[in-house]
Amino acid sequence: MTIVVTGATGHLGRLAIESLLAKGVPASEIVGLGRQIDKIADLGVTTKQVSYDDVDALTAAFTGADKLLFISGSEVGQRIQQHTNIVEAAKKAGVGLVVYTSAPKADTTDMKLAGEHLVTERLLADSGLPHVILRNSWYIENYNVQQAIEHGLFGAAGDGRIAGAPRVDYAEAAASVLVSDGHAGKVYELGGESFTLAELAAEISRQSGKPVTYTDLPEGEYVDLLVGVGLPQPVAEILADSDRAASQGALEVPLTDLETLLGRPVTPLSTSIRAALG
Ligand SMILES: NC(=O)c1ccc[n+]([C@@H]2O[C@H](COP(=O)([O-])OP(=O)(O)OC[C@H]3O[C@@H](n4cnc5c(N)ncnc54)[C@H](OP(=O)(O)O)[C@@H]3O)[C@@H](O)[C@H]2O)c1
Repeated sequence: MTIVVTGATGHLGRLAIESLLAKGVPASEIVGLGRQIDKIADLGVTTKQVSYDDVDALTAAFTGADKLLFISGSEVGQRIQQHTNIVEAAKKAGVGLVVYTSAPKADTTDMKLAGEHLVTERLLADSGLPHVILRNSWYIENYNVQQAIEHGLFGAAGDGRIAGAPRVDYAEAAASVLVSDGHAGKVYELGGESFTLAELAAEISRQSGKPVTYTDLPEGEYVDLLVGVGLPQPVAEILADSDRAASQGALEVPLTDLETLLGRPVTPLSTSIRAALG
């Protein structure tokens, strides 16, 4: 059995490999891919330096893989070509099962960030490769708790509920799918305990003992705020659009799928905040 993990040098990839190891998969059966592979040298798994731009290198890295954890790329705007390369390489290599990390409700949402994920889901469907879709909702780590304490929490998500979970829960769910059978063809909507941003601010306030409030802004003003703190305009726009979509329920999913894959309750929001406060 060989399990190949793309994005292994990133936060989610590392946690997924740690979870595979914790579930008893021998390090010799795991291959971690990335560009900065020195970042995962400590994990003891085989590593291969691969760029998503290089189909031949991807094909070589996937050859012999029984299962591929295809963690979506982080270069928003370039992912259609990059993911096309990955699917093409997986097909050439004859990968047995592809497990892809997508976005919530990718087939029905109008959240712009989900567009590249929907294209990827369709590429996988068209490829004929056996595959599983893990539609991960928001990472709790998207919210900077220390910054919220210093400056308050700002957004454009209104009263939209956000089914956030720490990356470790999504990573463990992915590992569960990789080490068990019967998932091919399934689409899982994965999310944790849901909260509004006002509730998130209140929880940070409760645990830190400092007053933290949530300020809800119109989408355009939130874009300006993000640009003002240094984000490039296109990034600010995509993040504000995600909040706009969240205000309409785009990030609210039941926690059933995640808890079923985990075989345990999701990590509560209060636990994630406690961890972030150190
Ligand atoms: N659901 C959410 O809330 C949420 C939030 C943020 C991101 N995401 C998605 O989830 C994915 C995993 O999250 P994360 O926190 O682990 O992200 P991350 O820490 O930024 O890791 C991204 C990974 O993608 C690899 N990568 C990016 N572009 C590449 C390329 N051109 N060629 C080869 N490797 C490339 C990086 O490799 P190197 O570092 O070695 O170059 C790294 O391993 C992200 O990539 C993104 O698609 C979801």
